[in-house]
Amino acid sequence: VQVDWGDGDYGRIAAALAPAADLLVARARVAAGDRVLDVACGTGNAALAAARRGAIVTGVDASAGLVARAARRLGDEGLAADFRTGQAEDLPVGDAEFDVVLSVFGVIFSADPPRAAAELVRVARPDGVIALTAWVPEGAVAAAGGILWGAVSGRRYGRTPWAAPGSLQELLEAAGMRDVAIEEDALAFTGPSPQGWLREQEDHHPVWRAARRTLGDGYAAVHDDMLRVLAEGNEDPCAFRVTSRYWAVRARR
Ligand SMILES: C[S@@+](CC[C@H](N)C(=O)[O-])C[C@H]1O[C@@H](n2cnc3c(N)ncnc32)[C@H](O)[C@@H]1O
Repeated sequence: VQVDWGDGDYGRIAAALAPAADLLVARARVAAGDRVLDVACGTGNAALAAARRGAIVTGVDASAGLVARAARRLGDEGLAADFRTGQAEDLPVGDAEFDVVLSVFGVIFSADPPRAAAELVRVARPDGVIALTAWVPEGAVAAAGGILWGAVSGRRYGRTPWAAPGSLQELLEAAGMRDVAIEEDALAFTGPSPQGWLREQEDHHPVWRAARRTLGDGYAAVHDDMLRVLAEGNEDPCAFRVTSRYWAVRARR
């Protein structure tokens, strides 16, 4: 299934990821004057957090609509960044240009992980910081995403080198990173109810929208399966909350 991340209203969905972007920017110790690249920036959560600290920010994303939205978002705060449309596997920036290279649940979507990891290294200055987040494919939200992904692709969700610390470390070291440190963090997805959270994804999330279009009438059964795992994993009896773990990685070129 082909996902157009500019479809739907990804900014609305990405608001849930902003705490992870803020934390990653803090962990990378982004400081005023740092040259920072946000890879697969989407609507610019990390770009915004870095610009608020006075960094000189560039953002790259495959979706032209999302980079335009990111630029508007920073502009609304009187901030600016150089946003470009481009691929994580072939970043439209020069070698060794950045003090800090970030990617919040972004580069993990690349179809060519070794190449995307090598690009992160290429664009970082020697001794520069590379920091990224990657989902742990566990928990009810991952299970729901896995049901959806399995239905459209026939493949198992989360079977990428980014998903486990061993393969992640191997991937990054093979790309040329050193001092790779992997910590575990968690992010809570919340909503009024399991149904309400799922409806929000169906209405606004580009991946859900693409899957739903692809599956047509077959979507109804997939919906019911997802709702079941979301209800089972719900941590809030009065509303909806699911905690999803992720790997927060910090390395050096
Ligand atoms: C889950 S979103 C995360 C967006 C943003 N980093 C955030 O934290 O909100 C994934 C993003 O990766 C982008 N993306 C996916 N594959 C890409 C690729 N190969 N090159 C560049 N961007 C890509 C999508 O357009 C989307 O904006």
